[in-house]
Amino acid sequence: MASRLKSLHAKLRPHIKVQKNVELAKLQIAAGAIGVCTATVWEAIVMSAGGIKDVLIANEVVGKEKIAALAQAARSGHFTVAVDDPHNAEDLSEAMSKAGSRIDAIIEIDVGMGRGGVRSPSEAVKLARHLNTLPGLTFRGVQGYEGHCMLEPDREVRIRKAHEAMDYVGRVITQLAEAGFKSEIVSAGGTGTYDITGADPRVTEIQAGSYVFMDNFHGNLVPGFERSLTVLGTIIIQHGNTIVFDCGRKSVGIDFVQPTMAAYPSYTARYFAEEHALFDVDEKCTLKLGDTMEFIPGYGPTTVNLYDAYHVVENDVVTDIWPIIPRGPGHLGLLS
Ligand SMILES: Cc1ncc(COP(=O)(O)O)c(C=O)c1O
Repeated sequence: MASRLKSLHAKLRPHIKVQKNVELAKLQIAAGAIGVCTATVWEAIVMSAGGIKDVLIANEVVGKEKIAALAQAARSGHFTVAVDDPHNAEDLSEAMSKAGSRIDAIIEIDVGMGRGGVRSPSEAVKLARHLNTLPGLTFRGVQGYEGHCMLEPDREVRIRKAHEAMDYVGRVITQLAEAGFKSEIVSAGGTGTYDITGADPRVTEIQAGSYVFMDNFHGNLVPGFERSLTVLGTIIIQHGNTIVFDCGRKSVGIDFVQPTMAAYPSYTARYFAEEHALFDVDEKCTLKLGDTMEFIPGYGPTTVNLYDAYHVVENDVVTDIWPIIPRGPGHLGLLS
């Protein structure tokens, strides 16, 4: 991803909610990423404490304890946070002042997904003016994550929708600039649109995350990346042509599309229960009771959070074990 973005306009800022792991984030930065983005404040704190120097929380941080934890962490690390609400901005500012720290802020724009983000260019300008009055917060630009485009299977439609979304971002940053607010950061994009949004001259960074593992969901949409995350299952039941693995939906993420056997991608599971993955196979499949099989997750991000560690495998040898952190403030004593 880093080398592909080198020939485009935007820089890579991988979304690490996918892997929740510092070692991999460091490899991404060594390959050319400018920093990382996170979904939660806890991920952000771990990244910063792990040595990542530029951390964007590509999400709103709301709630007293979370904001206080961020303000505390911002005493020693550099964070940027997405905001879309004036009261939330005030809470952030107050906490920064109390902790004696400061933080950069980008205004999230709703570009068609209907989730986070101000709903109009004038709302963006109003919020930028408000941010300007708040100590401890510095306006740096905007986020326009076009999440509604990522699920679009038809590439032509995806391109059109992503262009429309970025044209809207363009209108917002123009109005912000006219009001005196230059957007140094224009953060957008994901694995499904990296080459479309990454080529837009108005966009400065791409928040792609899932490319790093390439689950079945993203792999079906975006060709050219290898699958690197698997879950090892064991056949615990076999009757005739039916084999049942011990990796059900409590072991492997099943959002959007089904996980598949790495060595037999053409078989579709009859179902994934909590602790069982049941397949009806034919004579081409030689697996038997007790055999193991690597599974490609349907969705990587909701697979990773089920585990405490990765087994890093190179040439069939486990060469390292990397922690998966954090699932929340208490996980591995993050706040103790
Ligand atoms: C705000 C934001 N940016 C970027 C991404 C990364 O998307 P992907 O994992 O598809 O690359 C997501 C995914 O949910 C997101 O919510």
